[in-house]
Amino acid sequence: MQQLGFDEIKGLFDSYVIGNYGRMPVAFVRGEGSYIWDSEGNRYVDLMPGWGTSLLGHCHPKVVTALQRQASMLIHVDNTFYIPPQGLLARKISERSFGGKCFLCNSGAEAVEAALKLARIHKEVEGRYKVITMRSSFHGRTMGAISATGQDAYHRGVPHVPGFSYVPFNDLEAVKQAADDETCAVMLEPVQGEGGINLATEEFVTGLRSFCDENGILLIADEVQTGMGRTGHWFAYQHYGVEPDMMTLAKALGSGVAIGAMVAKAEVAESLVPGTHASTFGGNPLACSAALATFQVIEQEDLIEVCRRTSEHIFGRLNQMVKKYSIVKEARGRGVMCGIELNRPGAPVFQYCLDNRVRLNCTHETVVRILPAMNVPRQALDEGLDVLDEALAKAQAGEI
Ligand SMILES: Cc1ncc(COP(=O)(O)O)c(C=O)c1O
Repeated sequence: MQQLGFDEIKGLFDSYVIGNYGRMPVAFVRGEGSYIWDSEGNRYVDLMPGWGTSLLGHCHPKVVTALQRQASMLIHVDNTFYIPPQGLLARKISERSFGGKCFLCNSGAEAVEAALKLARIHKEVEGRYKVITMRSSFHGRTMGAISATGQDAYHRGVPHVPGFSYVPFNDLEAVKQAADDETCAVMLEPVQGEGGINLATEEFVTGLRSFCDENGILLIADEVQTGMGRTGHWFAYQHYGVEPDMMTLAKALGSGVAIGAMVAKAEVAESLVPGTHASTFGGNPLACSAALATFQVIEQEDLIEVCRRTSEHIFGRLNQMVKKYSIVKEARGRGVMCGIELNRPGAPVFQYCLDNRVRLNCTHETVVRILPAMNVPRQALDEGLDVLDEALAKAQAGEI
């Protein structure tokens, strides 16, 4: 492909790409591990690789090799036939989670849609269709997923899919109040990501499990952002000692290749009979081979253990920042899913970091979020955190 300079790239976007994203004036063209290079040759430390997708860093060589091998053999075949890598991947996901069955798709929103649809189909005979989700949640941008998302800002101008209600996160009493005989499911993120890195409490998750069991309600864990070891367990629900009935995955599952999965306990999964749901690209050989390679690398390189050690280092540094700067209220997170909450908008901190070649994120207005690769080298991590520290010093001094 032709090498384009930034002005040419921006010109293409101005003329031909719909402006639904607020884009920063940078075009990244190459990545390796926790570093990424822009079209002008500048190198950045990437503490948010692929918006949470590239949990092994950019272009992990084993994922690249698996993709090359599969691409040269068969890129796509449809679900009219059996697809070997899809079967192998489904087994891997099942074995590492709660022994369910998988429906493969292409994104987080699609996985969420599949979970919502299956919950409703499964509970249709009981006349149940309502779903309870959490305030500050985020479940994706398609019509069902956005209706499930408990943030008013995302609902503007979009008529809702009926049947959703929202309760405050970590408020079991509110769930009990909101539930009735028509409730089929409760869905939550064990750690809310876009909502500002909020951790579900042990009491809430175990209480929810018991409440759902007692009332014939399905419990869905949206692990699109928390899955694949990012929190220090394969899946974040595993921190709580209880299992959901369904789980959604995407983001890190394919190390940056588009893939999603909806996993359901076998007795629930049975309701998705032929003709009820489908996806042309879902579970294609290329994406599944990337996901299989992702599992293999995490296992062979013991990355969940590495993630736990990296997490200790990150939170050591973030907690120092909490002590050092009064504008930082708190450091929160699990594993390498981390955020600091400021007492003011985080946009200037984000901008300062980007200007100084460190890529992170600001979410929910005041939360500076980092989702680094599990295998981020200590040097790259510290380089990035040094710049964050500098940005906070400047923000505290009113210089940015
Ligand atoms: C918890 C959660 N669910 C669903 C989604 C939607 O995923 P996608 O953007 O792949 O559709 C996201 C995306 O950020 C997410 O964080």
